[in-house]
Amino acid sequence: MALETAFTIDTSSIKYGPGVTREVGHDMRRLGARRVMLLTDAQQAQSAAVATAMAALKAAGIDAVLFDQVRVEPTSGSFMQAIEFARSGKFDGYLAVGGGSVIDTAKAANLYATYPADLLAYVNPPIGRGEPVPGPLKPLIAVPTTAGTGSETTGVAIFDYTEMHAKTGIAHRALRPNLGILDPDNTRTMPKLVAASSGLDVLSHALESLTALPYHERVAPAAPELRPAYQGANPISDIWCSKAIQMVAANIVRAIQDPDDVEARSQMLLAAAYAGIGFGNAGVHLPHGMSYPVSGMVRAYNPAGYPADHPIVPHGMSVILNAPAVFRFTAPANPQRHLLGAQLMGVDISNVAEADAGQALASAVISLMQQTGVPNGLGAIGFTKEDIPALVEGTLPQHRVTKLSPRPATAAHLQALFEDALRYW
Ligand SMILES: NC(=O)c1ccc[n+]([C@@H]2O[C@H](COP(=O)([O-])OP(=O)(O)OC[C@H]3O[C@@H](n4cnc5c(N)ncnc54)[C@H](O)[C@@H]3O)[C@@H](O)[C@H]2O)c1
Repeated sequence: MALETAFTIDTSSIKYGPGVTREVGHDMRRLGARRVMLLTDAQQAQSAAVATAMAALKAAGIDAVLFDQVRVEPTSGSFMQAIEFARSGKFDGYLAVGGGSVIDTAKAANLYATYPADLLAYVNPPIGRGEPVPGPLKPLIAVPTTAGTGSETTGVAIFDYTEMHAKTGIAHRALRPNLGILDPDNTRTMPKLVAASSGLDVLSHALESLTALPYHERVAPAAPELRPAYQGANPISDIWCSKAIQMVAANIVRAIQDPDDVEARSQMLLAAAYAGIGFGNAGVHLPHGMSYPVSGMVRAYNPAGYPADHPIVPHGMSVILNAPAVFRFTAPANPQRHLLGAQLMGVDISNVAEADAGQALASAVISLMQQTGVPNGLGAIGFTKEDIPALVEGTLPQHRVTKLSPRPATAAHLQALFEDALRYW
C-alpha cells in the first residue's frame, strides 16, 4: 500500500488582545450573521465575557439569543439539546463563549442544524458512520475562556457517548470556527484546577503531536477528500507544538498561582492556540485515546472548581494522568522526539541516553503535575486494577487517535499502560 506524501495545515483566523471580545459584534456582521445563537454553560452565563459578547452583538444590530445549557464535558444528550435549540431558532451564526465544552457544543449545533442527520452520521467510525460534512457551515466565532483546549482552532467536537461510557467525536475541517478570539481578560477567573487541567491539556496536545507517527508513515488515502483531519506529525505542526511546549513549561505554574500575572496568563492562552494549530492537523495519540474511557467511566469524582451536579474527570486531567506512562512506552519508537520534548520543557538532555528518553520526558511531565496540584495517577481519582479491562475495552475503538501512536499498542500493552498510570509518586 502506498504511503502518504502530502499534509495540510488548516486553522481558524485568530484575533488576539486584551479586551478584543468587545469587537465580536463587528466580526459577526463581517461574516454576514444577523441572528446569532450565543452558547455558554450555566456557570459562565454570569461572566463578564458573556456580558461583553452579548452587548457587542446587540450594539452591532445583531439579534442574539442566549443558550446557557451547555453541559461541562458534553454528552450525546447535551449535544442533542443544543442541536434542537439551534434547529428551532433558525440562526445564521453561532458564538461560543466558554471552554472546550462550549466551543465543541457550538460546532455540533451548527453542523446538525445546517445538515440535519442522526447524531452518529458524522461521528468518527467505528462508533459513528463518519459521513463527510456535506458542505460549508454557518459562521462560528469561538471565544475561549480556558487555556485551553485549542478548540477555537480545530475542526473537532468531542462528547461523551453515554451509551458506550466513552468519549468520541466528530472531526471535519468544516467544523473549524471562522475566527478564534483570544482575549486574556477572559481567563483571569479560572479556578486553579480548571487552569491546571486545561493547561496540562495544552502540554499533552503539543507533546503528543510532536511524538505522533509522522504523516509520511501513514497509508495514503484513496482520494484527497478522505485524508483524515489528524494526519500525523509534520514539519509545520512541529513548529507550533515545540513553541507551545516551551510556553507552557515556562508559564503554567505562574499563571495558576497568580491569576493577576497577565504575562503568564496571556502566554498560556496563546500556547493553547499554538498547540491547537499543531494537533488540529497532526493529531494526538495514546494519552487522548486512553483518556476517553477514563472520562466516560467516572463514578464519584468531583474536583473543586467544576460543577457539582455530576461526577466529572476534567478532560485535561484524564489526558495528563496517562501521559507519563505512555511516553515511557512510546519513546523506543522515536527516542529523539521524546528527548526533544523533554528539552523543550527545560530538561538538560546533554547526558541523557536514548534508552532513557521516555523516563526523562515522563519525569518532566510528572514534575509539572505535582507543581500544579493534579492527582497522583488514576488511582487517586477512584480507579482500581479491577477497572483496567473496561478501560482497555473503551480505548480500543479510539482508532482515530490511537493509530497515530508511534508504537502500536495492543490490548496487553494498554493493560500495562493503565497499570503504570494508577500511581506516579
Ligand atoms: N475540540 C477540541 O479540539 C478539543 C480539544 C481538547 C478538549 N476538548 C474538549 O473540551 C472539553 C474541556 O474543555 P475545558 O478544559 O476548556 O473546560 P470546560 O469547558 O469543560 O470548563 C470547565 C469548567 O470551567 C469553568 N470555566 C471555564 N472558563 C472559566 C473562567 N474563565 N472562569 C471561571 N470558570 C471557568 C466552566 O464553567 C466549567 O465549569 C472536554 O469536553 C474536552 O473533550 C476539545
